[in-house]
Amino acid sequence: MTDAARILVFDSGLGGLSVVRALREIAPEAELAYAADNAAFPYGDWEETALVERMCEIIGNLIDKMQPDVVVIACNTASTIGLATLRERFDVPFVGTVPAIKPAANLTKSGHISVLATPGTVNREYTKALIDTYAFHCHVKLHGAENLAEMAEAKLSGKEVDLDALRAEVVPVFVEDENGRTDVVVLGCTHYPLLLEELEQGAPWPVTFIDPAPAIARQVLRVLEGRTQLDRGGKFANRALLTGDVDNDAGIVSALSQYGFDISDKNP
Ligand code: DGL
Repeated sequence: MTDAARILVFDSGLGGLSVVRALREIAPEAELAYAADNAAFPYGDWEETALVERMCEIIGNLIDKMQPDVVVIACNTASTIGLATLRERFDVPFVGTVPAIKPAANLTKSGHISVLATPGTVNREYTKALIDTYAFHCHVKLHGAENLAEMAEAKLSGKEVDLDALRAEVVPVFVEDENGRTDVVVLGCTHYPLLLEELEQGAPWPVTFIDPAPAIARQVLRVLEGRTQLDRGGKFANRALLTGDVDNDAGIVSALSQYGFDISDKNP
């Protein structure tokens, strides 16, 4: 059931648009709404308990109001800490986004993989457990970038990316020793695929950057499979819902409208 399925995509900011891009490609007939907790962006350095409570409240309200068929937590920082609690508290199916460590471990030839994520995601037990389970045989470099998500937001708002600043943020993920060098970098934050071109330009040597969005989009379709369509009223398709003020931020408005979203009724 993707025909008129209601898919709610949630992120702290605009990073979830990388997942929207993949969803629009494989399910053009589905109805997408986009919710961003931009009042609390970035999630990267939030305290864990406070963040989970905040997310549950916001997402609970969104579920009541929007009645989605599935909620995509298009944020690694939120999924690695909150997914289990969200699933416990709400009946709607959730698809999360967690660092693509398993595919990276399968893909590497050198055995050196890196995870580029927010400081929150690299510190999570969830991320460490993924490494212990799927990449125990690899050298794994975890790096929490302080400002990369903000750089992606600035790019989406039409600002030019400062390549030197971007290089400084990502250089720790490129590791070289006598046994080889990093050949696969996991983009462990949904904002980062939006900077793929600049990441490729800034890389000291070519690597494969893994953007998990196409795999997330496929998982959404699997979850929707076999679900019966409900007859619901209200506008869903292309609504953008935001927790923060955007009245003076023409950049966010234009970024969302480039992806087909309308913020005229933005309060969840
Ligand atoms: N897009 C979010 C993620 O995937 C993070 C950005 C933030 O720090 O809020 O982790």
